[in-house]
Amino acid sequence: MDIDGRKLSKKIKDQIKIKVEKLEKKPGLAVVLVGENSASQVYVRNKERACQKVGYYSRKINLPVETTQEELLNLIEELNNDELIHGILVQLPLPNHIDSEKIILTIDPKKDVDGFHALNMGNLLIGKKTIIPCTPKGIIELIKSTGIEISGKNAVVIGRSNIVGKPISLLLMKNNATITICHSKTLDLKKHCLNADIIVAAIGKPNFVTEDMVKKGCVVIDVGINRLDDGSLSGDVDYINVKNNSSYITPVPGGVGPMTIAMLMQNTLECYKEIEKLE
Ligand code: GUN
Repeated sequence: MDIDGRKLSKKIKDQIKIKVEKLEKKPGLAVVLVGENSASQVYVRNKERACQKVGYYSRKINLPVETTQEELLNLIEELNNDELIHGILVQLPLPNHIDSEKIILTIDPKKDVDGFHALNMGNLLIGKKTIIPCTPKGIIELIKSTGIEISGKNAVVIGRSNIVGKPISLLLMKNNATITICHSKTLDLKKHCLNADIIVAAIGKPNFVTEDMVKKGCVVIDVGINRLDDGSLSGDVDYINVKNNSSYITPVPGGVGPMTIAMLMQNTLECYKEIEKLE
């Protein structure tokens, strides 16, 4: 069965909207995009739309690809000190001449709505309350929405990125799953996958996870968004065939993507409350 990310995302955004209507000062989110990566442009537009829906103040800052690292660092310092802004998101990937790690470390950890700052990542690692990266946070919500218990399950995460693979592994472990992290150097990926009750695919290769790799009844979460030559979108999972084996599966589009945005709205509200000292 499909897990409907759009429906769940809408429900969460509707709840946030009601809370925001009661606030005197609006939560503010700044989204910074450097260059003209077409996928990034779509993501940033969707983030801006979500801000409008829930009633946030949103500021989109589009910078040319030639922007220097210093210029970007100066902009972040300005946003750090801007009282209208509670969340700062720098869309990744950045152009090669910019050191992404340095940029992320310059964002005030209190305004780090992505949860990518080393301080927030470190807090996630040691199990302290922190800002949790949006996509992994959304994946946990999607799994929980099925009613399936995560505790005690075997979960296989394919991919070890800082944005998805590493943090979702930590979150699944926090929820008492037994974790296997697979990557490009893993030998016999199929063997690991066939043992999985939950598979999270975050590889970036269309149709990488096939029916023969998936145990009957597995919950399959597809994080991939791959643009095919014909212009259509495909996930990392061979959806049509894997659907037969799985108990629940997220479609692409309409699965993880909308939930990432709902979690961004949630994180922005959490940063706002912390900064404005509410609750
Ligand atoms: N690029 C792909 N996913 C993300 C994300 O969650 N946050 C940011 N900032 N950039 C991304």
